[in-house]
Amino acid sequence: MSPNIHNALFENLNIDAKYEAIQIAKGQLREEIPSLLGRGCRGFNVTIPHKVDIISLLDELDPLAERIGAVNTVLVNNHKLIGYNTDGPGFLESLKQFDKLNINDAKVLIIGSGGAARAIVMTLAMNGGAKLTIANRTLSKAQELLMHSKTSGRAITLDEAESCLAQYDVIINTTSIGMSPQRDKTPLKLQNVKKDAYVCDIIYNPLQTLLLEEAKAKGCYVQNGVPMFIRQAALAFKLWTGRNPDLNQMNNIVYQNMLKK
Ligand code: ATR
Repeated sequence: MSPNIHNALFENLNIDAKYEAIQIAKGQLREEIPSLLGRGCRGFNVTIPHKVDIISLLDELDPLAERIGAVNTVLVNNHKLIGYNTDGPGFLESLKQFDKLNINDAKVLIIGSGGAARAIVMTLAMNGGAKLTIANRTLSKAQELLMHSKTSGRAITLDEAESCLAQYDVIINTTSIGMSPQRDKTPLKLQNVKKDAYVCDIIYNPLQTLLLEEAKAKGCYVQNGVPMFIRQAALAFKLWTGRNPDLNQMNNIVYQNMLKK
């Protein structure tokens, strides 16, 4: 999806550049970077399994990426590599779609404690304001993430989250539960959710997870993973080119690609 999006934006904005997907085995990043730079690469994204390993290869690290402990975007500036994380900020920006939501006033439940949860928790924590609760199957991981975030939130089990769900204004699924092909699963039961809660899933395949389908049926506002995906890409594009891309064009490309599947 990323090559489709970035190449369409380059074309649209008349930027003479190309975004390519390259497969690099774990542990091989160090060997590959000189050849990337030799080919005139001005920036790149890194994904699993390189998001943490890239850090030791950078010349500079953005403070939020440092706090998250993972990098998804690298800017090459005068042969120096500068690392950023646009996943968390991309999610935070996606919440602006909900015009009545003030995230800094909200009680937020984050489900999961993996890499994606970490980016979102640290970004919300640095943004300040939001009261965070982290629910996870493995409670110790939620506790660890909470401690790292230096917020005064709570870490709870998925069972506890189910029973006190009515407290939360915003619920964010960061786990892969519900992702294709396991479309018939949800991370927790929604029987206690507030009618006007905001339920977000970072999954975009399927476009509507069972969690979002159930939330919608309960009268909640819902958001799938597309707005976050688009915005993390837009923030990376801005870092590389200095240009603000057209979010609608990006959205259309993602939907066209998803509907082809
Ligand atoms: P990512 O980096 O994409 O966020 P990850 O680090 O593998 O992925 O994290 C996956 C998250 O989904 C974890 O919070 C994991 O819970 P555990 O910490 O208990 O492993 C959660 N998860 C994955 N599958 C799950 C399942 N079947 N039930 C409950 N939680 C699950």
